[in-house]
Amino acid sequence: MPAEEHVARPAVNRRLLFTGGAAALGGALASGAAVAAAVSGGRQPADPGPAAAEPPPVDFGTETVPFHGARQAGVATAPQAYASFVAFTLHTGTDRPALGRLLRLLTDDAARLTEGVAPLADTEPELAVLPARLTVTFGFGAGLYAAAGVPDRRPDSVADLPAFAIDRLEPGWSGGDLLLQICADDPLTVAHAQRMLIKDARPFARVRWVQQGFRRGRGVEHEAHTQRNIMGQIDGTANPTPDTEAFDTAVWVADGPDWLRDSTTCVVRRIRTEMETWDKLGRVDKELVIGRRLDSGAPLTGEKETDEPDFTAVNEVGLPIMPDFSHVTRAHITDDRYKILRRPYNYDGVPGPDGTPDSGLIFAAYQADVTAQFLPIQQRLADHDLLNEWVTPIGSAVFAIPPGCGPGGWIGESLLA
Ligand code: HEM
Repeated sequence: MPAEEHVARPAVNRRLLFTGGAAALGGALASGAAVAAAVSGGRQPADPGPAAAEPPPVDFGTETVPFHGARQAGVATAPQAYASFVAFTLHTGTDRPALGRLLRLLTDDAARLTEGVAPLADTEPELAVLPARLTVTFGFGAGLYAAAGVPDRRPDSVADLPAFAIDRLEPGWSGGDLLLQICADDPLTVAHAQRMLIKDARPFARVRWVQQGFRRGRGVEHEAHTQRNIMGQIDGTANPTPDTEAFDTAVWVADGPDWLRDSTTCVVRRIRTEMETWDKLGRVDKELVIGRRLDSGAPLTGEKETDEPDFTAVNEVGLPIMPDFSHVTRAHITDDRYKILRRPYNYDGVPGPDGTPDSGLIFAAYQADVTAQFLPIQQRLADHDLLNEWVTPIGSAVFAIPPGCGPGGWIGESLLA
C-alpha cells in the first residue's frame, strides 16, 4: 500500500486513544500536521518523475513477512541481514492499563511497518515503504509481568540466568522489561522502525539498551549456505530446521493457556569475542576449539558440514578426534526436546584507541523452556569449553516471546486483557 493511503487516515484520534495526555496531544497534532503537509504537497515517494525511465525492479526491498499469526514472526523467519534488539525499562506507573495502551500502539506500529506502511504520525513515511522482510518481535521480561500484576503468569524460566563463572556482565547490556527485536534486510528500514517504535514507547518506558547487529548481506551468498560469524566459523549448522516437527518441539510451547500456547522464550547474551588473541591461534587449533573445520564446517570426524560428529572416533594415538572440551562436543544435543534455536547477529563497534576490536555476537537463542533447554547447555559450556578462552559474556537478558495476534488484536492481549 502506498504511504499516502496510510497517512491520509484519521491518525490523530487513534494515537491519542493509545497514549492519552496533553503532551501526546501536542506531539500528535504536530506530527499529524507534518504528515498531512507532506502528503498534500509531495509527490509519491517512489515516483521517479514523468521524464525518468522505468526503474528496474528491486529485489528484496518490497518483500514482507506477515506480522499476524498464531506465533510471532522473527523467530522461525530466516534471519534477516540486520537486527536491532531494543530493551526497555518500564516507567514507574506503567501499570496494566498503560501496558495495554503501549502494546496496542506498538502492535499497530509493527503491523504497519512490516507491511511497508508508515505508522501513524510518521513524519518520514517514505522510509517505511521498503520493509525488506522487516519483523518486529515482542519479548516480555520478568518486570513486565510484575508491573501488569500477573506475576503468576510469568513462565518460571523468564528470570535472570544464574551467574556463570565465565560471565563479566555489564548492567548496561543486561535485563529489561520489554524487548523489541527488529530485523530486516536493510539497515535504514531497521533504523526507521526502531525510531518509530522507541518514539511511541517513550511515554511508557525508557530505553535500557540497544544492541545492533548484522549477518551477511542478503544476496551475497546463496541462502542455502549456513552463515559465517565474525570469528570466521560456519555458525548455525546444528540448528533445528524451521517447518519441521523437531523445530516446533524445541522452540514453541505447544499447550497451555492462551497467553502461553505458541509462545517461546528468548535469551539474549552479548558475547565479546577476543579477536586479538583469537588471531594468534593457528587454523588447526581454531578447528580443535570448535570441533569443526573452518572451510567446510564439517565435524573433525567427517567430510561434509551435514555429517554428524562422531564423538567415539579416536586418532592413531587413541585420543578423541572431537576434543572432549571442544565447543561442539560440550554443546551437542541429540534429543529434539532439548535443542535450542540459535539466531545470532555479529556486532562490530568502534575499536579502542589502540585498534583493539569491539566485536562479538548478540547471541539470541529461542527455546520453549530456558531451564530445560538453554541452561544445561550454557552450564556445560561455562564449565569446560575451549572457546571460553576467546569469548566473554558481557550482557544477559531473558524474555518470554508471547503468542502472535490476528488483525485487530495486539501482542500481549491474551496475557493482559
Ligand atoms: C561467541 C560465542 C559463540 C560462538 C562463536 C559459537 C560458535 C559455534 C559454532 C561455530 C558452532 C558449530 C556449528 C553449528 O552447529 O552452529 C556452534 C555450535 C553450537 N553452539 Fe555455539 N557459539 C557461541 C556461543 C554459544 C552459546 C552461548 C551457546 C548456548 C548456551 C551455544 C550453543 C551451541 C549449540 C547448541 C551448538 C550445536 C552443537 C551441536 O549439536 O552440534 N553456543 N557454536
